[in-house]
Amino acid sequence: MRHRLNINGQDREVNVLGDTPLLWVLRDALDLVGTKYGCGIGQCGACTVHVDGQPTRACQLPVSAVGARAITTIEGLSPVAGQPAHPVQQAWMRLDVPQCGYCQAGQIMAAAALLRDTPQPTDADIDAALGGHLCRCGAYLRIRAAVHLAAK
Ligand code: FES
Repeated sequence: MRHRLNINGQDREVNVLGDTPLLWVLRDALDLVGTKYGCGIGQCGACTVHVDGQPTRACQLPVSAVGARAITTIEGLSPVAGQPAHPVQQAWMRLDVPQCGYCQAGQIMAAAALLRDTPQPTDADIDAALGGHLCRCGAYLRIRAAVHLAAK
């Protein structure tokens, strides 16, 4: 079944079953592998993308339910390809946040949405927005510091 999607500002068409999770459409059909598969059951946050700007777990969203909503992945977070990284990504690099890195795309997508809506977040705001994002390396303190740095 054909589905038209808006991914990172581009119209794309994929031919997959309607119940295919968006995560696998991104990774397997569109080769956007920055979005990660962690748990597949909506528990870890590794697969987070923006759907009309809202952080959304792509493993839990069937492609047939996306419709005309705009999808942004980590590949599309910088305003223009080849231009300097999004401020959240810059902060992440400056503080050398990732250890294994696996959860980082999801963390960054959640942080970017938080900062758009709450430009000066408190620790509690950060914990509320990112608390459901698991990091098996335990980089939580660096993640929180990077969110504050990106807010400056
Ligand atoms: Fe989607 Fe874990 S892979 S929440």
